[in-house]
Amino acid sequence: MAPKVYIETVGCQMNVLDSELVAGSLKRAGYQLAADLATADVVLLNTCSVRQHAEDKIYSTLGKLRRWKAKGSGRIVGVLGCMAQKDRELIRQRAPHVDVICGPGQLARVVELIEEARRSGTPQIAVSLGRAEASRAEVADSFESYDPLREPAMRPNRFQAYVRTQFGCDKFCTYCIVPSVRGPEQSRPPEHILAEVRQLADQGCKEVTLTGQTVNSYKYVAGDGRIWRLSDLLYAIHDLSGIVRIKFITNFPRDMTQDLLEAVRTLPKVCRYLHVPAQSGCNEVLRRMKRLYTVEFYREMLARCRDTIPGVAISSDFIVGFCGETEECFQRTCKLVAEAGFKNSYIFKYSPRPGTKAYDLFADDVPEEVKRRRNNDLLAIQNRVSLSEHRRWIGRTVEVLVEGQSKLAHKRGAIHGDRVQLTGRTMTDHIVVFEGPLSLTGDIVPVYIEDASSFTLFGRRLGPESENAHRGLESQAASEKRSAVAARVG
Ligand code: 5AD
Ligand code: SF4
Repeated sequence: MAPKVYIETVGCQMNVLDSELVAGSLKRAGYQLAADLATADVVLLNTCSVRQHAEDKIYSTLGKLRRWKAKGSGRIVGVLGCMAQKDRELIRQRAPHVDVICGPGQLARVVELIEEARRSGTPQIAVSLGRAEASRAEVADSFESYDPLREPAMRPNRFQAYVRTQFGCDKFCTYCIVPSVRGPEQSRPPEHILAEVRQLADQGCKEVTLTGQTVNSYKYVAGDGRIWRLSDLLYAIHDLSGIVRIKFITNFPRDMTQDLLEAVRTLPKVCRYLHVPAQSGCNEVLRRMKRLYTVEFYREMLARCRDTIPGVAISSDFIVGFCGETEECFQRTCKLVAEAGFKNSYIFKYSPRPGTKAYDLFADDVPEEVKRRRNNDLLAIQNRVSLSEHRRWIGRTVEVLVEGQSKLAHKRGAIHGDRVQLTGRTMTDHIVVFEGPLSLTGDIVPVYIEDASSFTLFGRRLGPESENAHRGLESQAASEKRSAVAARVG
């Protein structure tokens, strides 16, 4: 019988994508995917090191997996991803029952490692070089590119997919472990990216999200000397039939160039949504974070995004309680959030990471309860802003790519005949919930927005006959974009 593998993923979109690729490789090697632990022979944890909390949860899961492993013979436990790269020795000490440790730059070897662990019964370890262990080129080489064929069955739905534009990161923000565990920034050749998107489109994929730690820093010098930027990729992907929506995450504020903003304005398939983390609203903190911009620069960048792309939605990330963050510093961040009009923000308490500059240079001097209070205060401000940002959409018609049944409705069993609570997203990345048949999953439908919370728009699906009567701003903007492209092409 084919061995069954269960993969649990935590962390960012890179991990979600890596897990899909690993699952695809295993399936091609004859493995089946298990729906849960109980039926699995192999359990893989794809891990995250960005905050201590994520690591603590993995060690607690590994504790449970010790008992799981003891209950059956030949069971395999694997740790993949950032923790494997960062802490292979610690994992061996704290969880000696782990059979496979495989860093994010070695995933091409994961099938071989599992097979060898099953055959020999001895732990298998594959990690890339540390950033200080060799020259940049040697370290980059040790983070192997991993872009095996895509496997639609691994994704929550087959019409949406992440596509990697680059590996690693070179920004070295002082709090961040990513450049150490994911290695040097390496942009993938555009022909690989385009071939992958073409393949996804052939498999029925409609929406691709281009993914890089700093996706807008993408730069590739082709053999003919042509320099490819993210905007060039957007134009090229836009030409591919089958793909109807293109998104990209995450952006670095300094690299938000005008060519990119103009591509977003011009291309009707590109979502008018930008995730551009600010991290702090205080220049002193930004300097200690080594973010390479001031809050004034960030505010100007936001204004430029909004001037260039009418109706664009922008979201951000913030870290509260970073080393040396005084109450005045924090108030500057509150002011930025109150004024910037973000659709939403992800807010994190600073978590010191051994191996980062901040860990070595600065004291983690903001007490935990102050971090918690600042987190709550900033969240309350953002929630107020999000509510008014979401309420602006009431009375408009939006085009929603339907992702499936809403989780909340699923839990409550809110089904009326063949109609269920559906959820999907707009071209500006707003979540919309409305009633309709499950068969709409994967379609783009017009929805008239009647209500809003801080996180969700609530609406009513428009029938084809009422579509024109209710043409709202979003549809108008989309058709304006279409004529802009027609003008460009003509
Ligand atoms: N502590 C808290 N948050 C962090 N992030 C990155 N490193 C840390 C850290 N050490 C946050 C940043 C980043 C997001 C993905 O995680 O806000 O944008
Ligand atoms: Fe980390 Fe900064 Fe790179 Fe983002 S840009 S992954 S925060 S080092």
